[in-house]
Amino acid sequence: MSKLTFRIATRTDQKSTVQIWHDAGLTRPHNIPETDFDFALKGKESDILLAEKDGQLLGTCMVGHDGHRGAIYYLAVTPNQQGAGLGKAIMQAAEDYLLAKGVWKINLFVRQGNEKVHQFYGGLGYAPIEALAFAKIIDQSKVGKNS
Ligand SMILES: CC(C)(COP(=O)(O)OP(=O)(O)OC[C@H]1O[C@@H](n2cnc3c(N)ncnc32)[C@H](O)[C@@H]1OP(=O)(O)O)[C@@H](O)C(=O)NCCC(=O)NCCS
Repeated sequence: MSKLTFRIATRTDQKSTVQIWHDAGLTRPHNIPETDFDFALKGKESDILLAEKDGQLLGTCMVGHDGHRGAIYYLAVTPNQQGAGLGKAIMQAAEDYLLAKGVWKINLFVRQGNEKVHQFYGGLGYAPIEALAFAKIIDQSKVGKNS
């Protein structure tokens, strides 16, 4: 059986990565995923990890830190490969990436309506915290625009 391998995405992986995000139901009309992809690649402390088998992209996550906590976004496994351990393996790769950067704690968001992943994260040792996330758009010119 071929092995799952990980690598860090480069610009040429944008299309296939965004396709997986779409297929896994992670994209939203108010967010341009291509812009998110490009921004993560530009950052010194962020990357997108790609999980592949036989050169075929099967899963992704965006990983990085903000100088305080680690963060994971866009965790996605291509639908017909879900439930076979790939999500767990990608999370392990993300934790290894962050540990290597000195991060000791990870925060992640789960959207309302995606309660079915609570058990997935719970099984990996993630627990809900008592906090309400606030957000503000501070550059209106970027809303709905490609980078
Ligand atoms: C969430 C997601 C990444 C999980 O990846 P996956 O490859 O399907 O999960 P795995 O096969 O690695 O599962 C790991 C463990 O979690 C459990 N698990 C996975 N999905 C679960 C679910 N919906 N409910 C309960 N348990 C679940 C598995 O049973 C497995 O348990 P085990 O280790 O005891 O066998 C994948 O389902 C996905 O891409 N979902 C759509 C996108 C998404 O919601 N991303 C998260 C955004 S916050």
